[in-house]
Amino acid sequence: MTSLLEIAGIGKTYRARERTVEVLTAIDLTVSEGEFVALVGPSGCGKTTLLKIVAGLLPATVGQVRFGGRPVTEPPPGLGVVFQEYGRSLYAWKTVRQNVELQLRHLDLSRARRRELVADALDAVGLGAAGDAYPWQLSGGMQQRVAIARAVAYRPRLLLMDEPFSAVDAQTRADLEDLVATLWKRYGMTIVFVTHDIDEAVYLSQRVVVLGAGVSGVQADIPVDLDADREQIGTRSSARFGELRTRVWTQVRRTPESEMV
Ligand SMILES: Nc1ncnc2c1ncn2[C@@H]1O[C@H](COP(=O)(O)OP(=O)(O)O)[C@@H](O)[C@H]1O
Ligand SMILES: [Mg+2]
Repeated sequence: MTSLLEIAGIGKTYRARERTVEVLTAIDLTVSEGEFVALVGPSGCGKTTLLKIVAGLLPATVGQVRFGGRPVTEPPPGLGVVFQEYGRSLYAWKTVRQNVELQLRHLDLSRARRRELVADALDAVGLGAAGDAYPWQLSGGMQQRVAIARAVAYRPRLLLMDEPFSAVDAQTRADLEDLVATLWKRYGMTIVFVTHDIDEAVYLSQRVVVLGAGVSGVQADIPVDLDADREQIGTRSSARFGELRTRVWTQVRRTPESEMV
């Protein structure tokens, strides 16, 4: 597999007046084309910061990100993002269809092709019949489906998701997880999925990358060798799932002072 994303020596220091906060230090991470990588770590360790740097929305203090071989200095084409706050990311005065279509505006597409991509994306997220609704008429879970449809409509090579399901109830969350797994297979995208939910990370990904607070570099990189076909109840109750989640937990809890394991 060729690497689609290369994060090399990334560091980030926020400077506000006289205070400086070093959030990320010497992060190296390579993601192959087609991979599903979960990124976990304690709150405040810099997960969102790293995603914003990868998305070209925030400059790194040191290091370089390459996407498809090219240095990222601004939001690159071929990269989609879904953030946690779906409510704020949708336009209330536009219909679901218009919200999804907006993302395709800057592409050189015929009107028919654009319509086709929008319809396909809405179908793919199970909202084929909701195109004329307004976001505020939909439940939180459905709004997040719209945000996902918008991100996948233009068929990104890389989809970045930042704790996309932390604001929905457990059942909706399980449905959305399975939706993302299906879309990943259907579109052959590469996904980097940030979550603070370790079970979700193991359930969805092929690899869990752990970031630590105040830790230099990536703290752990754990391959997830579960079957490709996963299912909420069966997969999560398997012995291997339990072993993997314990391994990830141990890494997330580990402080820099106790270098055991
Ligand atoms: N614009 C900013 N200016 C100063 N500090 C920031 C800014 N954005 C985030 N931080 C700080 O950087 C740290 C990491 O934040 P963040 O990347 O959001 O972590 P995570 O997503 O892992 O919870 C936190 O301590 C946060 O307060
Ligand atoms: Mg965050």
